[in-house]
Amino acid sequence: MAKMAASVLDNSEDAFRKIFKFYKRRDLPPDFRDVTDFCSGAAGEKIVPVKLNPAAVRDGDAVSVGLKPIRDWRAFSLQGYPGFIFISNPFLRGSQAYWVRQCLKTYPQKPNVCNLDMHMPLSDTQDIWGRSAQVLRFASSEKRQAKTLLEKLRWVTLGYHYNWDTKTYSANHFTPFPSDLHALSFRITAACGFPGFSSEAAILNYYRSDSSLGIHVDESELDHSWPLLSLSFGQSAIFLLGGPRKQDPPTAMFIHSGDVMLMSGPSRLLYHAVPRIVPAPQERAAVLEDFSSASSLQEGSMLEAVAEEDWAVCSRYIQSSRVNVTVRQVLGPGQSFPEMPPISVQRSDEGRTDGYHNESADGDRWKRKRSCSGSDSVGTKET
Ligand code: OGA
Ligand code: MN
Repeated sequence: MAKMAASVLDNSEDAFRKIFKFYKRRDLPPDFRDVTDFCSGAAGEKIVPVKLNPAAVRDGDAVSVGLKPIRDWRAFSLQGYPGFIFISNPFLRGSQAYWVRQCLKTYPQKPNVCNLDMHMPLSDTQDIWGRSAQVLRFASSEKRQAKTLLEKLRWVTLGYHYNWDTKTYSANHFTPFPSDLHALSFRITAACGFPGFSSEAAILNYYRSDSSLGIHVDESELDHSWPLLSLSFGQSAIFLLGGPRKQDPPTAMFIHSGDVMLMSGPSRLLYHAVPRIVPAPQERAAVLEDFSSASSLQEGSMLEAVAEEDWAVCSRYIQSSRVNVTVRQVLGPGQSFPEMPPISVQRSDEGRTDGYHNESADGDRWKRKRSCSGSDSVGTKET
């Protein structure tokens, strides 16, 4: 990172913002020389292969949610980031199709919550998939004027629904967490040394090719001793992993389809951001197209085959998009939400000193999440 960091860091602007902008800008040819790629094997000096306990999850339990047996995973840690684990696509060939279909067709359904809800009547958001699939199946976006609802989808929340305004979860805004996604999350976290994880909330982010996600920390969960699990599908992204302070210089890395990240321990509360979506590299693009072999599901699988007509829509969508799912345990053992004061006397946030809550970066994230139209050059204040 030395060369770029040096040239980019000379003046007063903080290191993270500068590097965020460096990767986000599109007016110059991109320079990805400093971006760590866990899958290429060309290990940067910071990448350390880690051996996960193969006995933590039975082979059959891994395979039934579409994962390879643990002993076949390629997991890494990153020097200087204890608790951060990167698993380079542990999914069985073909099984990402199921998870992509869930993210596009199933999880956006009611009673789950999405960005479109506050802009549209329930009658419109009740069948996002149905209203979009016909159009997406037959016409590429260049040939159409209007965007489908699926193309306007920016986020979906599951379980305890995150409130973007108050930055809180609450006991009274909860819907059942999808059992398949919990099974997947439980097994991945167990493999990484966290048996007993309870998937209580998830945020799904839907990125178009020009989307980004501002610099932030995920600290709204009440218990931070559980890891934050991140799953990515579709196009690739540049992910920036920073430090405990917002201005700390980040490490840039590629996230490709199927890659899994765990932020745990000292890495659970590190600043991070997604400045850029990048086309999937050839090898990974082939994996994306190969999803149609999802029909080759193993005996005892929790996953059901993806219908060919559904896959036609999903594959068209992810040719230009990325979906990221973060799964969170919100409460510690025996913990419950604090009593909420009545709305009218809700406490303001004055007195907070973390410099985060009112910061523009999360405001940008919030704005992006809340908007349902237009291009997604979020982070405008980021730039
Ligand atoms: C998040 C997040 C990162 C990503 O949703 O909190 O940081 O890779 N997502 O999209
Ligand atoms: Mn995050």
